[in-house]
Amino acid sequence: MITKPDFNLKEFNTLGINARAKYCTQIENEEDLEILFNEGKIDEKTLVIGEASNILFNSDFDGLVLIITTRGINIYSETQKEIILDIKSGENWNNLVDYTVKNKYWGIENLSMIPGKVGAAPIQNIGAYGTELKDVFVSLEAFDTQTGKIEKFTKEECEFDYRDSIFKSKYKGRYIILSIKLKLSKTPKPNISYKALKDYFRENDEKTLSIENIQQAVNEVRSSKLPDPKEIKNSGSFFKNPIIDNTKAKELKRKYPDIPLYKVGNDSTKVAAGWLIEKAGWKGKRFGDAGVHKKQALVLVNYGNASGEEILQLSQKIATDILNKFGIKLEREVWVI
Ligand code: EPU
Repeated sequence: MITKPDFNLKEFNTLGINARAKYCTQIENEEDLEILFNEGKIDEKTLVIGEASNILFNSDFDGLVLIITTRGINIYSETQKEIILDIKSGENWNNLVDYTVKNKYWGIENLSMIPGKVGAAPIQNIGAYGTELKDVFVSLEAFDTQTGKIEKFTKEECEFDYRDSIFKSKYKGRYIILSIKLKLSKTPKPNISYKALKDYFRENDEKTLSIENIQQAVNEVRSSKLPDPKEIKNSGSFFKNPIIDNTKAKELKRKYPDIPLYKVGNDSTKVAAGWLIEKAGWKGKRFGDAGVHKKQALVLVNYGNASGEEILQLSQKIATDILNKFGIKLEREVWVI
């Protein structure tokens, strides 16, 4: 285990922000955490990152950053119909998806190409194209930075919600996720309910689709809108899709008949924030190296040397404008450090 001082994080966050950490340690196995804890180096201020695909560094980090690189995809149990995989946090999420597609374990193919590591997935209950992590999630193990003990969390205990979990609220920063268990199906479970997938497979019968067909469709739809962080630095959706009450939603629909709205339970409606931002005229705008993506207005991009502050300021201008124009408050999806 090597600790480096004054560590440049530019290559270690998908927004490519040139921030520095006071110290940085790469964690290759769980014992490393125990050692650091016993030396008094880990507490709630320690920042844990996988690929930092959902973090905006607004300044240098005056503390210890841990980069988790633990590896392993193991079969925990299986029946004829289902399999439970036990996956270490440092595995790349998309490699896991590829593994499940290759083995025809159904459940996360719609989450193909999401940047980041496995350990980050439960924190915001990653989701895309009609599937969320919680749909296949069983449990996780996490290191408690207060006690130094490893604890297990069941699905219920994680309190998953839309882009949310207990690790973003009550326990923010407290636990370091070590591994997760997912239950996948060995029998086909195609989910093409998301409009973009339905449109893609227009003439196909859902029952005839293979897991590879679905992954391919997700990859194509995704690539047509979302920038690849290897090419253009970004952190995916910068804001959450806001949830508003049905009365407000009806009012918006009357004014803007093409506004994309999705029902959430009986009383609430989710609005496509990307649509609001595009309608307000921000799509494709660029200020220095900070910009709004040309094909997906919900994604802010760094064309090279934008600072965290520049990206944050742009996001604040957008949020103020959306509040003024639509009376809707945008909430950030990314975590600002
Ligand atoms: N839209 C526009 N203009 C835009 C962007 C979107 O009009 O610039 C419209 C689209 O035409 C569509 C609707 O808004 O009718 C929804 O767009 P899209 O399908 O692209 O999805 P999204 O709601 O913008 C969410 C997730 C994405 C996820 C996609 C697909 C959030 C915050 N974002 O985006 O997740 O990939 O759905 O399921 O929920 C992420 O979390 O980082 C992320 C990329």
